[in-house]
Amino acid sequence: MIEAMMTRHSIRSFSNESLQKKRELIDQICRESIKGPLGHSIELLQVSPQELQKRGIGQLATFGVISGSANYLFGIIPDTRAGLVNYGYAIEKAAIALWKEGIGSCWLGGMFKKQKLEALYLMKGQRVIPAVLAIGMPHEEKSFVERIVKIATRPADRKPLTELIFDRDFQQPLKIKPDSKWETVFTCVQRGPSARNAQPWRIVKEYNYYHFYLETKDETEMNRIDMGIAICHFDLARLELEIEGSWHVRRPLEDPRYRYFITFVREK
Ligand SMILES: Cc1cc2nc3c(=O)[nH]c(=O)nc-3n(C[C@H](O)[C@H](O)[C@H](O)COP(=O)(O)O)c2cc1C
Repeated sequence: MIEAMMTRHSIRSFSNESLQKKRELIDQICRESIKGPLGHSIELLQVSPQELQKRGIGQLATFGVISGSANYLFGIIPDTRAGLVNYGYAIEKAAIALWKEGIGSCWLGGMFKKQKLEALYLMKGQRVIPAVLAIGMPHEEKSFVERIVKIATRPADRKPLTELIFDRDFQQPLKIKPDSKWETVFTCVQRGPSARNAQPWRIVKEYNYYHFYLETKDETEMNRIDMGIAICHFDLARLELEIEGSWHVRRPLEDPRYRYFITFVREK
């Protein structure tokens, strides 16, 4: 999974090849991706272009952001903070596993017909479909819209680790040993996708605790999904590198500029 996290980038131009033959594989990846460190599991659903057509939605993505033949993955979740973090974790885990199998994807938080999809799938109650993942076989040539989005979000750009990972408080960047396991874990977090490529996550290391924060004044649904994605990248990398530990909610350092989410406690 580490290699896939290091190389994955968003794909918005898909070929016209149907994913019908890969449906079994995708369903299996969905089943394996549903549990995040916060405990709740999420059912991931898959919808094909034919099904969307039949149900009167047509193209789910808006503004022509997705071209070619795309299926969509999504879940139906309670509209809570933990629900959104779990959502980010579960769908990102699927996106990474799909990339390993040569299937490209792009998160869509705003550019999809949310109300129409929710009208089709939601029962009554406080449940939402906050974002979807467009998936398909990557097309060699990028569409015009994809090129524009890439210029606007500058996806290759990631903040340096010195702006993301801190030592005990938010004053000191953490000194990371080159070529260490931890450098790999933090680089996987750094590579994570985020809405508008904002990369709002911050980690503060305190002894064997790794506290996850969001840098924001106004926490949004998308920010919470971004946090789930960062937690997912950290967790998949540390599991592959056999770093033992577990996730807990603590009450660490308070700072008005940051919102605390969760702590990874490494076993000594
Ligand atoms: C929660 C979330 C929502 C996103 N929503 C959109 C979207 O509505 N439209 C879009 O084109 N890209 C969307 N993206 C993709 C990001 O723009 C992209 O991941 C980021 O710019 C980094 O680029 P990369 O994934 O190619 O590395 C979203 C990503 C995340 C994580």
